[in-house]
Parts: sequence; C-alpha cells; structure tokens
Amino acid sequence: MADDTTDTKSSNQMWGGRFASGPDAIMEEINASIGFDKKLFAQDIRGSIAHATMLAHQGIISADDKDKIVHGLNTILSEIESGNFEFSRQLEDIHMNVEARLATLIGPAAGRLHTARSRNDQVALDFRLWVKEELEKTERMLTGLIAAFLDRAEEHAESVMPGFTHLQTAQPVTFGHHCMAYVEMFGRDRARVRHAIEHLDESPIGAAALAGTGYPIDRHMTAKALGFREPTRNSIDTVSDRDFAIEFLSIAAIAGMHLSRLAEEIVIWSTPQFGFVRLSDAFSTGSSIMPQKKNPDAAELVRAKTGRINGSLVALLTIMKGLPLAYSKDMQEDKEQVFDAAESLELAIAAMTGMVRDMTVNTARMKAAAGSGYSTATDLADWLVREAGLPFRDAHHVTGRAVALAESKGCDLAELPLSDLQAIHLDITDKVYDVLTVEASVASRKSFGGTAPSEVRRQIAFWRARN
Ligand code: ARG
Repeated sequence: MADDTTDTKSSNQMWGGRFASGPDAIMEEINASIGFDKKLFAQDIRGSIAHATMLAHQGIISADDKDKIVHGLNTILSEIESGNFEFSRQLEDIHMNVEARLATLIGPAAGRLHTARSRNDQVALDFRLWVKEELEKTERMLTGLIAAFLDRAEEHAESVMPGFTHLQTAQPVTFGHHCMAYVEMFGRDRARVRHAIEHLDESPIGAAALAGTGYPIDRHMTAKALGFREPTRNSIDTVSDRDFAIEFLSIAAIAGMHLSRLAEEIVIWSTPQFGFVRLSDAFSTGSSIMPQKKNPDAAELVRAKTGRINGSLVALLTIMKGLPLAYSKDMQEDKEQVFDAAESLELAIAAMTGMVRDMTVNTARMKAAAGSGYSTATDLADWLVREAGLPFRDAHHVTGRAVALAESKGCDLAELPLSDLQAIHLDITDKVYDVLTVEASVASRKSFGGTAPSEVRRQIAFWRARN
C-alpha cells in the first residue's frame, strides 16, 4: 500500500483524501464496472449456460461438470433476482462476480466454464442480448404510441385546425391528419428498430479473446440456443464491434427528436393563448405560487430527455472512434450510455402515449384558429385558376390584394362583400364563398396523402392493417 511506504501528506496531495489506501483504490474505482454491468446478470447467466451446454455436447467438458455448472448458475440467478447476492467491486465486473460465486457453490468444476471463451466475447454477448431485448421492448412501446395516435386520428378525421409553416398559419388541415404525421414518424422509428434487430442478430460467443479458439466448439449451437440467427463471422470484429449499441443510440436519438417535437407542440397547444388541448391532471402540475397555472411538465421533460439521449450517442461514438482493433477497456464505457438512453427513451414514449391518449382536444378553438390568418387564401387563388381561368401566378397576385384589403378592414376573406372582391377581379362570383370556408378547404385536398377526411381515413386504414 502506498500509504504504508510514503508519507501521508504527500500521498494525500497526489490522490486526495477520498482514496485512503492510495493508488490501488483509484485503480479499483476506475476499473470496476460492477456498479452498472450487474444489470447484465440474466444475460450473463443465460450465455454461460448455453456455453457450458455446448462445451459438454462437444466433449470439451464432462456432462457431470456441465450439470454442476448449470445448477450453480441457476442458483446464482435466483440469488440475484431475490436480492440475496453480494456484488463485490474487487471482482470488477458481472462476469467475475458470477464466476467467483460459482466456484464457492460448486468448487473446481466452476473453473471449466471459462474454457474456450474470454470476457471479451462474453461481454459482447451479454450486451448484445440486452440491447436486443431493449429493442424488442422499444418496438412494442412504439406500437402502443402509434395505436394511441390512430385512435385520436380516427376520432378527429374531420376536426379542422390550422396547419402551420414557420409556425405561421398556412392552410387548414385536420387534427386527424396532423396525428397521422406522427404515426408516419414513429412508424419509421419502429422500422429502424426492426432493422437494428436484424443487424445484431448474430452471436458473438466463441470469438474468444479475439482470434477464435483451438477447442472444437460449435458456435452455431450456442447461437441457436441463445436465439440468434447465426454466429458472427469474424472473431476480431466480434470483440471490437459496438455498432449494435451505437445503432440503438442513433435510433433512440431520432425517436427522441420526434418525441421532442411532439412535446414542443403539446407545450404550445396547451398554452391559454392557443388552447387547442388540455392535458389531463395526470400529466401536468400546478404552480406552488400561481393558482391558475397548469404546466405541461411531462412534455417539457420529454423534450429535455432528448438532450440526454443525444449526449449518450455522441459519447459512445467518441469513445469508439480512436480504438485500434480489437478490444480495449475503453469499451467498458459503452454500457452506462446505453442504459441511460434506454431509460430516458422508455419514459419518454410512455409519457407521450399517456398524454396523447388523455388530452382533451378543443375542436372549437382549433376551428376558430383555422379560420383566422387568411388560411383559405390558397383556396381563393385555386378557385381563380379553376373557375376564372387565370394563370396561378396572376391568381396569387389577385388573392394577395384581397388579403391586403381584408387586413385593412380587419375582417376575414369570407367576410369581404362580393362587391369588394369584384373590384379586385371582375370574374369573381358569389360561388367563391363555397371555397372560403375551412371545411371546404380541407375537403378539397383529396390528393394522395392530403388532408381531406377521406384521405386521412385511407391513411388510418393503411396503418391499422400494419399495427
Ligand atoms: N467489464 C469489461 C467490459 O465491460 C469486460 C471485458 C473485460 N475484458 C478485458 N479484456 N479486460 O468491457
């Protein structure tokens, strides 16, 4: 111990008061991963059972030793699950913790488990299994969120709201159509998740330290036992690859960005100024000082979680970018990033699913807002093209004059008397008023993927068949 051989004052200057026993304590603290990788206990034990079973099948260990190992591992599994397992930081990580306990439980046979493998392929396996399960969970959660949006879209296939560009009123749309935009976004996220599951569906175990092994192992057997499509093909790549974790984080970052845009819309919509939606009490909070307030805290936190997820993605990309092949200890820093991002993503999807299902939609406010801001100006221009035969550019100009006139009178386009409209262009007739309502505007947009209720229902049917 450094403290025994050097004077206390100087070692304290070097390591600080926290590390009472000098460099050994610092080494242990920086080296140990058990604090977070104990989360991988179930995957570690599953992997070890598959490995031991294969070793016995191949005659590399005896059937008797295999039985002892499997029995011991199952005991450890229930010890950890029931909270009766003492994790030790001296034993560094989950792999060594499990193996050391196995030795206590079954004696020398435990030493045979680590034949033909290394912690390098072991950790790659455990982490892959964990990420695969997390991706499967994410897929289910996204399906739930999409279902919530489909229900709201169906309910509001005809509810008119302002559509925005630059957050300025652009053209009337339906709330159902707006909900279906999110279905498309989360549908793409789910497709990325499914693709990532296909990418990582290869078993790393048996790559050993980096070069493979001389024992006659059967990697196809372990791959099958662990639910993978096939074994990985290159042992060097296998122990140095963390693409599966980075793909998870990339997908989480993109989904997080979508969730954050939705959160931002909910924050805006729930202001008294917009008043488009009212959040349920379950997803909002009051203010400790201002009794009138109802704050969209859950939406704000979803917006913030995105920052954490992005941070995790950048962290892992940065950890990996300078590493020579194959394994380096830097890679141990992959887990906390993924665990933290997974927790944030799960929470964000769950909170959003709840908010979307629970929020009260104020269709009257939405419709009133849809009618203001000259949102049917494009419909007037289109009418001039269709009914009066004007080139679109001229129609645009005529419409601009009508908008300017309405603005100066402080009224809406539909409130301008026909004489005013005819003063701008002689061919305008009272038929024009049919297209100046917001309902007529949305009903006319029947192009494929457009906002007409009939189109929105087509989009809903498409997704219902796929959800
Ligand atoms: N705890 C380590 C990690 O997470 C396990 C692999 C250790 N391998 C090694 N060669 N030191 O990366």
